[in-house]
Amino acid sequence: MEQGQDILDNISTGVLGLDGDLRITSLNAAGEALLKTSAARCLGVHARQLVLDPGEWLANLNQVMRSKNPLTRRGMPLTLHTGHEIHVDLIITPVDSEHDLRLLVELQPVDRLLKISREEGLLHAQETTRAVIRGLAHEIKNPLGGVRGAAQLLARELPNEDLAEYTRVIIREADRLRDLVDRLLGPAQQLQLEPLNIHEVLEHVRNLILAESDNTVSFIRDYDPSLPEMPGDRTQLIQVVLNIMRNALQAATDPRSCTITLRTRSRRQFTIGAQLHRLVCQVDIIDNGPGIPREIEHALFVPMVTGRAEGTGLGLAIAQSVINHHGGLLECESQPGNTRFTLYIPMGK
Ligand SMILES: Nc1ncnc2c1ncn2[C@@H]1O[C@H](COP(=O)(O)OP(=O)(O)OP(=O)(O)O)[C@@H](O)[C@H]1O
Ligand SMILES: [Mg+2]
Repeated sequence: MEQGQDILDNISTGVLGLDGDLRITSLNAAGEALLKTSAARCLGVHARQLVLDPGEWLANLNQVMRSKNPLTRRGMPLTLHTGHEIHVDLIITPVDSEHDLRLLVELQPVDRLLKISREEGLLHAQETTRAVIRGLAHEIKNPLGGVRGAAQLLARELPNEDLAEYTRVIIREADRLRDLVDRLLGPAQQLQLEPLNIHEVLEHVRNLILAESDNTVSFIRDYDPSLPEMPGDRTQLIQVVLNIMRNALQAATDPRSCTITLRTRSRRQFTIGAQLHRLVCQVDIIDNGPGIPREIEHALFVPMVTGRAEGTGLGLAIAQSVINHHGGLLECESQPGNTRFTLYIPMGK
């Protein structure tokens, strides 16, 4: 038990133990820091007394007590005794002990950026942006085809070769614009769903990044080997993971100091948008680089928003659109030295 408490005190997730009457039986160090209290002060105290607005919090605990099913609540607001409002991801797991049912509560703080990306309103806004882009893209592509074709005809009629450079410029720039518009539109193909192993996708991209960086990037792999296969479009998911890892590599001041952590987990009873999923695959891609520039963090997933001189600002917009097509969610949390992109992908029925 001593050793168990040691481990609990060293993890970053707040862990709270409750007995059958919802009285606190344990609280680890991260939980003390998050709830701004101490284990000594709250042992034996009822869970309702942890927060000033216990309504929803108690309702969730009671629901798990009644149903005996684990529950995940994301971005739940809690008002602490200090008056601070925090937002947490909550996982409540029922634990059957010999005499009664106990609850294990995991609490993960979520920061502002994470909360914003969870807003359903934002998902709608992204849909609108995409619709506008689609409309605009088609308006550009049609005349562009005409311009290119006319330049080709003109090139054939030119009286001397000196003038050909001008038509070449027109054709080259028309092609560049068409490529940009195609990338703006995102993957043209429908999803080709097949059973895939997410670790195979991650390993594939890890090898690509190692090759691109001359073996200088370090990787830490923390895979959950029990994750089953899931339906996904392999090519498009590779693109997603590649866009995210490439950004990490490009953001690093020196690739030799760049460490990317790849972590996979399964999450049960997990809500995405308005839908509750039985099983969701969570993939974290974490880097130790300088972090997302503050000026663009609110619009990170918006097409053409970039923090790099040579960037087109499409990598993350495409990644998000692919993940959304899979019924999933892409989120980001960033501070200097620790930038985390998290994919949540439903694992089927
Ligand atoms: N891991 C990261 N660390 C720091 N900044 C990042 C990271 N990932 C993304 N960014 C910032 O977000 C911006 C947008 O990324 P995104 O991939 O959408 O476009 P891009 O990399 O600029 O261009 P493209 O991917 O189209 O070549 C980047 O320009 C960069 O400033
Ligand atoms: Mg990019």
